[in-house]
Amino acid sequence: MTTKATNIHPVFDRILGREDKEQFLHQNSKLIWMTGLSGSGKTTIAIGLEKELQKRGYLTQILDGDNIRTGINKNLGFSDEDRTENIRRIAEVSKLFLNCGIITINCFVSPTIEIRDLAKNIVGEEDFLEVYVNASYQECEKRDVKGLYKKARNGEIKNFTGLDAPFEAPENPFLEIKTSEMTPEESVEKVVNAILTKLIKDSKVENK
Ligand code: ADX
Repeated sequence: MTTKATNIHPVFDRILGREDKEQFLHQNSKLIWMTGLSGSGKTTIAIGLEKELQKRGYLTQILDGDNIRTGINKNLGFSDEDRTENIRRIAEVSKLFLNCGIITINCFVSPTIEIRDLAKNIVGEEDFLEVYVNASYQECEKRDVKGLYKKARNGEIKNFTGLDAPFEAPENPFLEIKTSEMTPEESVEKVVNAILTKLIKDSKVENK
């Protein structure tokens, strides 16, 4: 039996699209992309944001080093090439979550404008909300939550962002949070307010 080339295989007719999923969940998906130095507070803010969104009935997924660099990207290091591939795969995974209607919260150093542009282009500008979690190198080194700054200073870690590998601040982020000037609770509140306002403003489904 032959099928016309223009015919879509029946299986594709049955795959539900993003809008179907968004209607089902009563929410529109967005990607919240946190960028900043290691230890700047990205994951702390993401956890707080997720909790607050969940209280209001939104379904979310956090992607960060813990679930990405230990799994799908465990073969990647911190060379320029590997960081680019890290972010490319993360953006593709994020797109799948967006297509599933899920509000996705990413916490990655994503150190250069070029690398974040790559992610933005894969995902689509309209869905990409860049949040710059800003803390200075000195501040992050003082916190040194994972002991990596000490190791980098001793030369045990190479290509460490902010020391011997670059970090380029976003030029025009959706939001900037200076975590050294606020408590974690205040940082979370600021992000929650901005994201909720945006979600409601852009909502194409019945509001929560
Ligand atoms: S990215 O640059 O490729 O976007 P990613 O966010 O996935 O980085 O991973 C950064 C995390 O890996 C840091 O928070 C830190 O815990 C750890 N890490 C290990 N080596 C490095 C390094 N050389 N530079 C930056 N972070 C590193």
